[in-house]
Formats: sequence, C-alpha cells, structure tokens
Amino acid sequence: MCATSTRKCRCFLAPTLCEDILRSMKHTRIIVTHYGGPDALQVIEEECPEPKAGEVRVRVQAAGVAMPDIMAREGIHPETPSVPYTPGWDLVGTVDRLGQGVSGFEPGQIVAAMPIHGAYAEFICLPKNKLVPVPPGLDAAEAVSLILNYITAYQMLHRSAKVKPGQRALVYGASGGVGTALLQLGRVAGLEMYGTCSSSRGASAVSELGATPIDYKQQDVVTEIHRLTQEGVDVVFDPISGAHLWNSRQALRPGGKVVGYGNTTTLRGEGLGAGRTGRRNRLHGLSNYALYIAGGWLLPGRKRVVPYSIQTLMRLKPEWFRQDLTALFDFLQQKKIKPIVAQRFPLAEARQAQELLGKGGVVGKIVLVCKKSPLESEIA
Ligand SMILES: NC(=O)c1ccc[n+]([C@@H]2O[C@H](COP(=O)([O-])OP(=O)(O)OC[C@H]3O[C@@H](n4cnc5c(N)ncnc54)[C@H](OP(=O)(O)O)[C@@H]3O)[C@@H](O)[C@H]2O)c1
Repeated sequence: MCATSTRKCRCFLAPTLCEDILRSMKHTRIIVTHYGGPDALQVIEEECPEPKAGEVRVRVQAAGVAMPDIMAREGIHPETPSVPYTPGWDLVGTVDRLGQGVSGFEPGQIVAAMPIHGAYAEFICLPKNKLVPVPPGLDAAEAVSLILNYITAYQMLHRSAKVKPGQRALVYGASGGVGTALLQLGRVAGLEMYGTCSSSRGASAVSELGATPIDYKQQDVVTEIHRLTQEGVDVVFDPISGAHLWNSRQALRPGGKVVGYGNTTTLRGEGLGAGRTGRRNRLHGLSNYALYIAGGWLLPGRKRVVPYSIQTLMRLKPEWFRQDLTALFDFLQQKKIKPIVAQRFPLAEARQAQELLGKGGVVGKIVLVCKKSPLESEIA
C-alpha cells in the first residue's frame, strides 16, 4: 500500500510517486463571477487546495443547492460574499488529508459541514471544528439534505416555536426544501399541519407528508385556515417575508407565533435571468422585515413574529448546530425521516441545477454530486 493519506489506497505506484500525483491533482470548482443570473456560474479546474494547520481537506461527495445560493448569486442574501466566490451552503464528504496538528478525524471518515459558501467544489479545506461526523451507511445526497433544510426546520420547531404535540402549524412553501423538512419533523413532533403549495404534485407531496394542502394561488390561505381550525393555528412558518408576515399573523390564534425565516418574495417573478447583472445588497428586504417583527410585538392580540436565521444561531450556539445535526442523522438512521431528493446533478452542471430551482415547482432538495477520483475508485 502506498503512503498517501487516502485510506487503504491500493494503487500500484511507488509511494513517493503516488504522493506527487495527489499533490499536483486538479479539481473542479464552481465560481460566481459577478452578481446576476445563472450565467454568472462558471466551472473552473485548478490545483487542489492544501489544508493549513488546524484544517481538514474534505473530498466532497454531495453539496446542497438551495434558494440562498441563488439569492447570493444575485447579490441579495445577507451572506453574499464578494465575487468571485464558490457557492454552496452545505456538504457531505470524505476526510481526505489532515492539516498540521489535526487529530480526532481519520482519512476516509464521512463528515458533514455547513461552510455557507464553498461547497460547490470537489475539494474544500475547512477548520476541524466545522466538521460533524456522519454515521456510516447513509446516502450522501439524503445526508446533505439534512444540513441546511432540516436544521433550519428542526431549530424553528424546537428552539424558536418550542412546539408541543397536538399543536397546529401552518407551513408556507410546504413542498419546497425547508417546507418538506418542516412537515416530516412536524409529524415526528405530533403536530397537526397545514401546508401551502401551488401545484397538484406539490399537493400530493404535502398530503403524503401528513398535512392538509392549501393551494395559495386558488384559495385565500388565512380564510381557509380559519374555516378549517376556527380559532387559527399555534405557529406559522413563513419563508415569504415582507407584508406576507402580516397575513401569517392573521392565521394565528391569540398567543400564537409566526417564525419568519426567508425572503422568497424578492425572487419570485423577478429573479435575474441570464445576461442580467445585479449588485451586492446584503441588507435587501431587511428593514421591511424588522418593521413587521416590531409591529408583531406592538400590536394587540398576543401574536408574535420572531425571526430565525440558521447562520446566526450557528455562530451564537455552535454546540446546538452539532447536537441538532447529530439528532437528525439519528432520525435518518432510524428511518423516522426520509429527505426528498428532487434531483441529483453532476457538479459541473451547477448552473442547470440552479436554473431548475429558480423556476420553482421543485419538490424536495436538489443535490450536486461529485464523481469519484481514479485513486478513490481503487479503495476497497
Ligand atoms: N433563515 C434561515 O436560516 C433559512 C434557511 C434556509 C432557507 N431559508 C430561506 O427559506 C426560503 C425557502 O428556501 P427553500 O430552500 O425551501 O426554497 P424552495 O425549495 O425553492 O421552496 C420555496 C417554496 O416557496 C414556495 N413559494 C414561492 N413563492 C411563494 C408565495 N408567494 N407564496 C407561497 N409560497 C411560495 C414555493 O412553492 P411553489 O413552487 O408551489 O410556488 C416553494 O415550495 C428561502 O427564502 C431561503 O432563503 C432561510
């Protein structure tokens, strides 16, 4: 066996030659060249990054494609980096090489991380403390779906809304990535759920996940909620934001809570097409948001609007992120949840993947998958 960091590498090259090959290996990475439409995404080939002291190099197996990736590409997400940058909130991959001083991880071990950007690449170097071990035997695309979408859903249910069995919840965007996660975890938590969607495919998915579908294009959601529940719901999960938070508040019973977590209105119908250039505006929509949250607290009716942000909570409470992701991996292993993987695209087709998500109507999560390396395919 050669002396590379690749576990059980069985290539027949001399150890030093094998090391040289790994060192000069190229990898594929996607970059956003400017703020704008899908044409801003480019595929580049470059030298593999080397881990610095305290870092681990991870070979990415699966990276999630999410609405915040598209919003950042258009320059309107609070986490938009300066261009050029590599998108990709979350990943599952294999520990490939350890930087100086790193212990506690083994080459070949499967790990998950939420770097916020950088996951659309074959290799990424991350600080050791950003990695969470993934139990063996899980599908990488299903496991990656748990990171951004399911942690968001889990923390909104249990840390923001603090739901109790038997309570009623209204989930907007119920057939989407976070929406389907909310329905699956809401079912585990024993909630009675209502979910908005706009297509018959979406409605079937919502029903299959145990919720009552409401077509928000054909029906007035608030009227429908009061017709179905009389007094309203205990909690509304609202990814739409803006004035929509007001509608959500009207669907609550007294003492209920709206958890606001997105800015989907900023994209729908006005997303940037190819050839259109945007600009970096990380505060886009935030003042509006603050206004509705404050209003929610000031107006009578004991109805609250609370914001949720996965990245803020991860920075403030990294131990919650780790605990919650580990709990979700347990749920997946015990088959209590089953993430819906809408489609798997090769990494180099990141543009097509984002175009599909941007069009809407996707049920579940889109995932980019990386091909195995020639050396890795030699691994037993
Ligand atoms: N705060 C956080 O920490 C956090 C974390 C993750 C995601 N997010 C945000 O959450 C939102 C959803 O993300 P996602 O990945 O789940 O996106 P997604 O998979 O594209 O789902 C979005 C859903 O919203 C629905 N929708 C769009 N416009 C709507 C409208 N006007 N009224 C009702 N429903 C509407 C779509 O349904 P139809 O196709 O049926 O119209 C779709 O099911 C995004 O804004 C994202 O930035 C926030």
